[in-house]
Amino acid sequence: MKYVHGYDQRENIRLYDQASTLVELLHFDTFYPAMSQVLEPGCGVGAQTITLARNSPHAHIISVDISESSVAEAKKKIEEAGFTNVSFQQSNIFKLPFKRESFDHIFVCFVLEHLAKPIEALKCLKNLLKFGGTITAIEGDHGSTYFYPDSEAAHKAIQSQVELQKRAGGNANIGRELFPLLDAAGFSSIRVSPRMVYVDSSKPRLVEGFTKNTFTAMIEGVRESSIKAGLIDEKTFDDGIKGLYRTTETDGVFCYTFFKGIARKQ
Ligand SMILES: C[S@@+](CC[C@H](N)C(=O)[O-])C[C@H]1O[C@@H](n2cnc3c(N)ncnc32)[C@H](O)[C@@H]1O
Repeated sequence: MKYVHGYDQRENIRLYDQASTLVELLHFDTFYPAMSQVLEPGCGVGAQTITLARNSPHAHIISVDISESSVAEAKKKIEEAGFTNVSFQQSNIFKLPFKRESFDHIFVCFVLEHLAKPIEALKCLKNLLKFGGTITAIEGDHGSTYFYPDSEAAHKAIQSQVELQKRAGGNANIGRELFPLLDAAGFSSIRVSPRMVYVDSSKPRLVEGFTKNTFTAMIEGVRESSIKAGLIDEKTFDDGIKGLYRTTETDGVFCYTFFKGIARKQ
């Protein structure tokens, strides 16, 4: 599998920055009851796992990822933070080694966007869910990005990331599709809520944590590969990155919307 965002250390730092900046927006309504079994597929380096473990201290969380090194890093992070309610396993979302109906809840974040067959993945997860159990899926949508001052080059740089992810089999605009995807996978009682990150200079923590260190860092991360793929020229890309940084100045504004879907197996 070609994973657009890469597994390097810079990307791991970006994932932690993203998670810690967005904890309130994405997790304020995610709590699992005591004794419940929760599966977190595609846990990566554990950026969301920390919040899951903290918010649901008496649930048992099983976090898995296809990347052995990410699982090892996630395990280290959780142990260092002192949580004992998470266990880890290396595994592919399409071949998870668990019995049918063994989980009360599933939490999957920023993973479907990387899969060529997100509906198949959701069906695999649904098999593992008990009847009455819930799935929570969170995804971004790059088409929801707008900012002031506007910059054509910035839109082109973002679009080169969207196209690169598409060529790798993923979908950077998947957030808007959460409802139809969950529906196609056979889930019921689907509720999707948009979670907009609105950033201006009155919110310096978001300017740093989101506009610069999460979103712009992600686009900057595809510079070489998108130029090499002929999707954009160097100058336009670099002007685009400048355009994104320009939105972090005193008069700048940046907006992006995540989508959080919660659905039930009935
Ligand atoms: C953008 S990261 C998200 C990590 C974490 N959920 C978070 O929100 O920070 C996507 C993760 O999905 C994992 N992944 C991709 N395809 C997978 C598959 N088929 N099975 C399991 N994990 C997969 C990648 O290894 C990566 O760690």
